[in-house]
Amino acid sequence: KKRYTIAVLPGDGVGNEVIPVAVDVLCLAGSLEGIDYSFKELPIGGVALDLVGVPLPEETLTRAKQSDAVLLGAVGWPKWDNNPKHLKPITALLQLRAALKVFANLRPITVLPQLVDSTYLRKDTAEGVDLLIIRELTGGIYNAHPRGFTTNEQGDEVGFCTESYSASEVDHIARVAFDIAKQRRGKLCSVDKATILEGSMLWRKRVTAMAASEYPEVEVSHLLIDTAAMDLVRHPRQFDTILTGVMFGDILSDLAAMIPGSVGLLPSAALGDSGPGIFEPVHGSAPKHYGKDTVNPMAAVLSAAMLLRYGLKEENAAKRIEEAVSDVLDRGFRTRDIHTCGTTLVGCNRMGEEILRSLDGSCKKL
Ligand code: IPM
Ligand code: MN
Repeated sequence: KKRYTIAVLPGDGVGNEVIPVAVDVLCLAGSLEGIDYSFKELPIGGVALDLVGVPLPEETLTRAKQSDAVLLGAVGWPKWDNNPKHLKPITALLQLRAALKVFANLRPITVLPQLVDSTYLRKDTAEGVDLLIIRELTGGIYNAHPRGFTTNEQGDEVGFCTESYSASEVDHIARVAFDIAKQRRGKLCSVDKATILEGSMLWRKRVTAMAASEYPEVEVSHLLIDTAAMDLVRHPRQFDTILTGVMFGDILSDLAAMIPGSVGLLPSAALGDSGPGIFEPVHGSAPKHYGKDTVNPMAAVLSAAMLLRYGLKEENAAKRIEEAVSDVLDRGFRTRDIHTCGTTLVGCNRMGEEILRSLDGSCKKL
């Protein structure tokens, strides 16, 4: 029997509602495929600040590194918003990404036929969308040098943060994107701001060169970020694989969430060349919704499916989860964020139970 160690980091707010659901689903899908886990629950973000005074404790990092995959909820809470930067919950996430060297962030956006009514776009625009945003995660403006605060000659206070991308950073993420695009519909759209930014100019040059020399079978296009934002709303079905940097990818993935209609549906994977990946819902800790049992656990559950697919190479178990989510939707269950006329409104826990019912069988608890 295969056995994997999973570091479970629920973090703050609704992370504590959706991650237990994802763990139950992981258990059951695993047991149906002869997979066993050892789960290590560890603090990160605000809960870690309360417990030990830092957002990413040593032990959490060590154990995450030793695991086969990291399942993460969300970090952040208003209480810590005014902390100095090194004591903000969000810093833990950036530190964890850097420490695990997870440079490739995969964010799939699909419009399941059952969910076409929850789109914020026109139905015929959203129908059939199936795209994947591949976002560079450990470089770019988020990880800028130099950065900081200073005072200019006029005595004006200045905050600055310099974006840079090196050729090897671009090649690294571009290769991931080309390889994945090849397995999908063979279309790759690279998004940048090459008319203005030097990092983007180099980005476009490297992607163009790699396309010509190594991936003649992939159809490559380049869009500026502003045009890409417009086209994602106007005609999202034209996109297959989108490759972009850390900042544009952050914005485009929230924008693209409105195609299926809720950020509560979007899973993500953050992968490195080796070592454990981080699998987390795209949504945040959602202070407004926490403690009401109303949020959608599907983003977390689908992140668990990505954990199985990309983290453990357990494709069959991953498929089981995705089919269970589809089955629950067929049976009419909807959380508040995707609730439409004629469907059954349920909470987070109940949705979890229905997903387990669809997966069929019995689940070993933690
Ligand atoms: C995301 C989040 C993070 C990011 C924040 C919390 C650092 O917005 O994963 O999309 O910008 O990467
Ligand atoms: Mn974001």
